[in-house]
Amino acid sequence: MESVITESLAYLIAEAADMIEAAGLMVVSTGAGMSKESGVRTFRGEDGFWKEYRAEDLASLEGITRNPALVWEWYGDRLKACQELKPHTGYYALARLQHGKGIFPLITQNVDGLHQKAGMEDVIELHGNLRTASCIDSCGASRVQMTADLFEKLPPRCSCGSILRPDVVLFGEQLPEQALKRAFRLADSCDLMLVIGTSMVVYPASSLPLIALRRGVKVIEINPEETPLSSLDGTLNLRGAAGRVLPEIVKAVYGE
Ligand code: OAD
Repeated sequence: MESVITESLAYLIAEAADMIEAAGLMVVSTGAGMSKESGVRTFRGEDGFWKEYRAEDLASLEGITRNPALVWEWYGDRLKACQELKPHTGYYALARLQHGKGIFPLITQNVDGLHQKAGMEDVIELHGNLRTASCIDSCGASRVQMTADLFEKLPPRCSCGSILRPDVVLFGEQLPEQALKRAFRLADSCDLMLVIGTSMVVYPASSLPLIALRRGVKVIEINPEETPLSSLDGTLNLRGAAGRVLPEIVKAVYGE
């Protein structure tokens, strides 16, 4: 992974900083790679979750129905890991940019809550969150906070007796309607999009920068690896880790 700021990367960072300063409505879109340096595993790649587990077993409604205790054990581990995590310097750099520039919307595929922990506002969670759970049979009972006591007896149950499911988007499910509508509207109206740490293979999040590019809007990609976005016209590639590149962007914008 690229962790050193080379001269050519520094040049591109300066260019990105100018674009950010000039942009009216900037929108940021993040994926699992944003959290890698905080210790969260990504989904794909060498040590990704989907190398070890089958998404159909753990992240699907069918999986939860078939083996709810196993799925809840997995989410319990992920929740515990996320609660212990701290945002890395890249997170704070992004938060600094957001408060300095005027609150810009941040669309994330992540459920770890690290953007909020770093003090960011207007976070649009496209794939749900790990804060709450709800009845798998949509009985109408209110959402339940995902606290430690929920994991004492697995699987946790709703007051109606059905099992609970975490409020994350599972495979084959629709994304939260309001969040999705807003994300598409933003892709269609922003002046600049910053895409950080996503492999760009999961639709519809992957289509957001394409919508912006089609309108002639520039996209800045921060990722140590190439993605399907990297080679498209209008993409500025910052080939590096979020925790290294974002603080450098802030330095270039604010001179600190
Ligand atoms: P992936 O795991 O598919 O991709 C992670 C991306 O982060 C890759 O392109 C890496 O190169 C990049 N990356 C790794 N380290 C990085 C770093 N330090 N800084 C910046 N980038 C880095 O994750 P997503 O694209 O977020 O869905 O995956 C999308 C969805 O697939 C997830 O939300 C999840 C999964 O199945 C659901 O659970 C619904």
